[in-house]
Amino acid sequence: MLTVTNLNSGYGKLQVLYDLNIEVPGKGITVIVGPNGAGKTTLMSSIMGIARVTSGEIIYENIPIQGELTHNLAKKGISYVPQMGNVFAELSVMDNLNMAGFLMPRDEVKKKSEQMTEIFPVLKKFIHRDAGTLSGGERRMLAIAMGLMKNPKLMLLDELSTDLAPIIAEKVMMEVARLRDELGITILMVEQMAKRALEIGDNAYLMVSGEVRYSGKADDLLHEPELCSMYLGIKPDSGQIADVAKPSVEGSEE
Ligand SMILES: Nc1ncnc2c1ncn2[C@@H]1O[C@H](COP(=O)(O)OP(=O)(O)O)[C@@H](O)[C@H]1O
Ligand SMILES: [Mg+2]
Repeated sequence: MLTVTNLNSGYGKLQVLYDLNIEVPGKGITVIVGPNGAGKTTLMSSIMGIARVTSGEIIYENIPIQGELTHNLAKKGISYVPQMGNVFAELSVMDNLNMAGFLMPRDEVKKKSEQMTEIFPVLKKFIHRDAGTLSGGERRMLAIAMGLMKNPKLMLLDELSTDLAPIIAEKVMMEVARLRDELGITILMVEQMAKRALEIGDNAYLMVSGEVRYSGKADDLLHEPELCSMYLGIKPDSGQIADVAKPSVEGSEE
């Protein structure tokens, strides 16, 4: 569905990505893992037309999309949930959903936001609360719901689990699997919670210093003890998870 070929990109004069090749097949979860600063977010922002692409190709459904404006990509069915989510803290949950449906016909917005509260019952419960008062996990659900408002075919999710208590991060991961399994959405997901992401993912890339160090089945990467311990903080054969980003426990989570 999405093919990135020989991508070089960065910010201003700084080159971050070097000859990157990424393939995102339809209806699956493609996971990007790698240490901090590897360029994972830069890959997302290159696809979304935010970082500066110097060469290479980004093809979505057989059409080159480099240089497309973000809202045109949304119209084409690509939705982007940035790192830490992009909710409007001072607006209610309902107004956030309405904002996400900006430029959509009013009855369609209503129908979609009702659908979102069915998919995420917690949003229904807090529909009139300011998004800023939601817990970290609830905010992440709202950010996903906002991304879903425009019926995306492809969702780019950047580190949804960051700063969530492990049990809440696990819930968010299960929701991502549900997007694939129940809604048939194709997902490109960057995750620090590498072990869980690779367990639910189909294909995976390990990025190190702006280059691809591994590509293949997500599950197979978990059986590469050297890569796992060197770059992902996953200890081999101990059965233990030592994720690089140890999620901090959020005080008032569920
Ligand atoms: N807006 C920006 N302007 C300049 N440099 C940036 C910007 N965003 C990220 N970088 C740099 O690009 C490199 C890769 O960052 P990033 O893509 O955020 O990595 P990751 O998401 O894998 O942690 C880092 O060296 C970072 O400092
Ligand atoms: Mg990042």
